[in-house]
Parts: sequence; C-alpha cells; structure tokens
Amino acid sequence: MNTKNKYSPIGIFDSGYGGLTVLKEIVKKLPQYDYLYLGDNARAPYGSRSFETVYEYTLQCVNYLFNQGCHLVILACNTASAKALRTIQQKNLPLIAPNKRVLGVIRPTTELIGNFTKTNCVGVLGTAGTISSGSYLVEIEKFFPNVNVYQQACPMWVPLIENNELDSVGADYFIKKYVGNLMQQQPTIDAIILGCTHYPIIEQKIKQYLPEHVKLLSQGTIVASSLNDYLQRHSQLEKNCSKKGLIQFCTTDLPQVFDKAASIFFDTEIKSKRVEL
Ligand code: DGL
Repeated sequence: MNTKNKYSPIGIFDSGYGGLTVLKEIVKKLPQYDYLYLGDNARAPYGSRSFETVYEYTLQCVNYLFNQGCHLVILACNTASAKALRTIQQKNLPLIAPNKRVLGVIRPTTELIGNFTKTNCVGVLGTAGTISSGSYLVEIEKFFPNVNVYQQACPMWVPLIENNELDSVGADYFIKKYVGNLMQQQPTIDAIILGCTHYPIIEQKIKQYLPEHVKLLSQGTIVASSLNDYLQRHSQLEKNCSKKGLIQFCTTDLPQVFDKAASIFFDTEIKSKRVEL
C-alpha cells in the first residue's frame, strides 16, 4: 500500500491540558511530523479514578486516535501510563492493531533520574493514582537500584489547573503543603520528578517552596528525546508517520474553553474540535 500521502499523525493523549506540556517539547524537537492531540477534558481528572476506569477511558481514547489514522500514540499522562499502558500493550494491541504502538511517559523519565541525584534520594510528585500504582518505585528500582525514592500524591493540583484556579490563595496553600510533605520525608532529596504532565504548568510556584539546589525534572524534553530515539530505531513505524508539520487538537469537552488554555501554551490561536468517544 502506498502510505506516502496518507494522513497518519502521531497521537498525543492526556486526560486534559497536561499533555500539551509534552506536545510542545515534542514539536520543538520533531517539527516535521503531524500531530493529533486528544484531551479527555470532559472526564478529567483521571488521578483519583480506579484502575478499571482509567484503563477503559484510555483505551477509548487510543482507539479514537487509531481510527483517525495514528500508527503511534503517546500517553502523555502518567496516570494513564501507570494504570493502562501495560494492559493496552500486552492485551489489546495484539488483537486490535498489531502494527501500531502505544508508548508512555514513565519509563523515559525513570531511565534518566539516577543521573540527576548526588544524594541518591529522589522525590516523585504525582496524582493519587500514579503514586498508589507504585510504578515509579518499580521502574526506578530497575534502572537505579541504589536510588531511594520518596513519593507524594498531590490530588488537588490537577483540579486547580483544569479549573483555572492557579492564582487563588488555595492554590498556593496546596502547592506549599504537598512540596513540604515530600521534603519532610527526606530533606536530602536533591532531584524531583514532576510525575504528572500538568505540573510543569506550576513549576515556578513549586520552585518557590524548594531549596535552590533541588532539581525539578519535567517530562516534556525527556519524552521528546526518547521519541526521537524510538523513531530512529523503528524505521517502518517512522515511515508510516505523515510529515506535513500539521498540529490538530481534539477535546471531549467545550472547544472554546480548551482553545483558550491551549493557546497560552502554543502562543498561537488554536481551534480544537469536539469529539465523541
Ligand atoms: N496529566 C495527567 C498525568 O500526567 C493528569 C492526570 C489526571 O487527570 O489527574 O497524570
């Protein structure tokens, strides 16, 4: 089959706006590809939902992106990566799309974290779902068995971001609280993973409550480099990805609300489409 002119964007999925922090870095690194972003804003946040629900929602979103022509989908969401990725890769893909691929954001981050710590004490900030899944503990142990990992769930952060409440007193209260809880567990933590793709949006606020030497790791640039390597190693899949530099956005909620938030990220006007899953 001639795949030359076929629209086959790289699908980027998140429960809401968080994946835009990843998409932005991916586009910077790999501007030649087409991208289709899907935010399941109508059902965000995913962070406090059960394994079954996150899996069911994520699979619906992946199927939607496959139906739009994507051969490769990135779950730019830690909660979905923690709770749904493995089952989708092992159980669903062989049946529904054996030649397509779904990748997550946890592994690329854990492969690197050991290089950023001198004290061998690292922190992970994430949604309640990501933290309780233990995915970061398991993955970091594989690559850096000497690194001690301290985790803190931040259940209020995604709702504050999705509801545009960042300038409220409440937002500062919850940022200080969760950062403080993490550092209290182990004051020698010197590197922290922002283990939720929404959190780079509040990176500057998080920094206010941390000693200056503590390194904060956002996933955007890490995932972008990892995707670049992946595409180089998987030439058939790479050939299937169309390359016109088009970026399109879909949301399961109100497009005008999505557009306002997304335009801030991309410094350009965004016109998303509402989709039914
Ligand atoms: N950006 C998602 C993540 O990385 C947020 C999950 C949520 O919707 O709570 O986990």
